[in-house]
Amino acid sequence: MQTFLAMFPKQASTHAAEVDQMTVLVHWLMLVLFVGWGLFFIFVLFRFRRGANPKASYTGAKGKISKGLEVAVALIEVLLLVFYAIPAWAKRVKAFPSESDAGVVVVRVVAHQFAWEMQYPGPDGKFGRTDPKLVTAENNIGIDRTDPNAKDDIVTTNQLMLPVDRPVLVHLSSQDVIHSFGLYEMRVKQDAIPGMSIPVWFIPNRVGEYEIACSQLCGLGHFRMRGFITIQSAADYKKWYDDQEKELQPAAVATPTAP
Ligand code: CUA
Repeated sequence: MQTFLAMFPKQASTHAAEVDQMTVLVHWLMLVLFVGWGLFFIFVLFRFRRGANPKASYTGAKGKISKGLEVAVALIEVLLLVFYAIPAWAKRVKAFPSESDAGVVVVRVVAHQFAWEMQYPGPDGKFGRTDPKLVTAENNIGIDRTDPNAKDDIVTTNQLMLPVDRPVLVHLSSQDVIHSFGLYEMRVKQDAIPGMSIPVWFIPNRVGEYEIACSQLCGLGHFRMRGFITIQSAADYKKWYDDQEKELQPAAVATPTAP
């Protein structure tokens, strides 16, 4: 099990160990099934060879063992699904952190060909309006800075900054085609679908720099649709956040109207 886990990416979120555990378990089960059915196949090749059975029998096998094995395998799979996989999944998708909780970091992530745009609501906690009509080379997310809620919004491209040990709630969407938000170290993967805002959450628990990989073939530039996620200590994150806000203040005044 340990050698198995050594091949996985680093575990950098609180639920990563659980996901890995399930992956390992599934692989063991598949190994048992593979060996079991493989042996059975070889046995059948020998047992029903033409030399010993010159005339084909159409009645089929009558033994109880094969039926018993089939039922046992199906039963084990049902048990795994009902008592292990579904509860584990329910824990991931039911217990979403509350958006109004001050401890939760809320961020919008917008995928497009071929980059990731991040939008932080700023101190007011409200996301400013975005409009596809406002999208330009400098304004990839199409934020409307005339909207009062948008004035304090931090926008970054291909760089997601997050504090360690705090729940993160991502609202994931896409401007064009289906992309997939893949954070391997966080064991997070969710498709970004145009016309939908899909919530994703996790708790990063390891400071460091990781990759955001687009995990759906989304066009010619798919290979370079790569962002970074930086997990910082609370102090470093606050410093970054405050610097961004400071930078934003004069800019918001200097460009009062959108084109
Ligand atoms: Cu976006 Cu692949």
